[in-house]
Amino acid sequence: MTAPPTNLDQNAKAPTAPAAAIAVENIVKRYGTFEAVKGVSFSVADGEIFGLLGPNGAGKSTLIRMMTTLVPITSGRAIVAGYDVAKDPDAVRRMIGVIPQALTSDPDLTVEENLSIYAKLYSVPKAERLKNIAEVLEAVDLAKWRGAQTKTLSGGMRRRLEIARGLVHNPSMFFLDEPTTGLDPVSRIAVWEMLDNLRRTRNLTMLITTHYMEEADKLCDRIAIVDHGKLVALGTPIELKHSVPGANVVEVHFDRETPQWKARLESLDGVTSVQAESAGFYRVLTSSGSKTTMQLVELAAQLGETLTSLSVQNTSLDDVFVHYTGRQLRDEQVKPPVFTLPPRPGAQP
Ligand SMILES: Nc1ncnc2c1ncn2[C@@H]1O[C@H](COP(=O)(O)OP(=O)(O)O)[C@@H](O)[C@H]1O
Ligand SMILES: [Mg+2]
Repeated sequence: MTAPPTNLDQNAKAPTAPAAAIAVENIVKRYGTFEAVKGVSFSVADGEIFGLLGPNGAGKSTLIRMMTTLVPITSGRAIVAGYDVAKDPDAVRRMIGVIPQALTSDPDLTVEENLSIYAKLYSVPKAERLKNIAEVLEAVDLAKWRGAQTKTLSGGMRRRLEIARGLVHNPSMFFLDEPTTGLDPVSRIAVWEMLDNLRRTRNLTMLITTHYMEEADKLCDRIAIVDHGKLVALGTPIELKHSVPGANVVEVHFDRETPQWKARLESLDGVTSVQAESAGFYRVLTSSGSKTTMQLVELAAQLGETLTSLSVQNTSLDDVFVHYTGRQLRDEQVKPPVFTLPPRPGAQP
């Protein structure tokens, strides 16, 4: 084995043209006796945005940490930009930008200082450093904030700074762990647009993890659904949706709970499955939304029962997740804590 390079040469080329930007083969991670990643394989094409979608604890961060040389791989192989992660970690590090899940920019430094430190760590020459910093600040729309202290930025701006920092050494591959977790919906959409734009203008390959189905759907070319350390499905958002029996979802609300409706809905033409969501609310997967809707309305009229709402949609990644795991992804999201206030002084017990 040759010694790993010590200086981070910006112009290093992969020894052979990579067949895929990322190739992961039967990769396993064990912590003691616990297997966090249980033999996962996939590959990512050049220029693709690839998503790892799964609930908390699925193994997404562990997968990213293995691919980015941050934790050792227990068994299996990961090739990133043509280099074997286990054998040539320095070469991999030169080629990649990594945005971890937690915010890691220094709040007491200015925006520019945070970028400059990273550029120096990656040995970007001084002249190039200034040019790169100006370019990445422009790309994430923070040019005006160059001299601002990082702690004065909003959550969305801080996330954009971290994205800029990951780009300051001109990587060809970008790894982002939950890039929009904790952001408000408006900032989230701004980050999606920015990432899509960066991919096109900088010719980047991106691997992101997320537990937001909408994020995976809107942003990713292909998605791997991960659950309990295993890959349970892989495809484009459209392929995944088409792989679920039933092309439409009919959501129906009755004005009161009638348990017999589950069986009644299951007996309608085209229906492949029925989920009781809450009192009087059902999600029906069907091969024909229009047929099922007509039969449903007729049946309710015959029985004298009242519908309070009815909608027909195409299947979503939510339905895909339920189909492959038997659970709903949104159930897994962290519930807001419930606070119990202490009794007010003098209040009745
Ligand atoms: N350093 C560690 N030591 C032991 N267990 C870990 C460690 N890091 C992660 N895990 C466990 O591995 C599983 C996958 O974690 P993680 O990759 O962080 O999931 P995700 O990013 O999908 O939420 C979880 O059960 C987690 O508790
Ligand atoms: Mg994680």
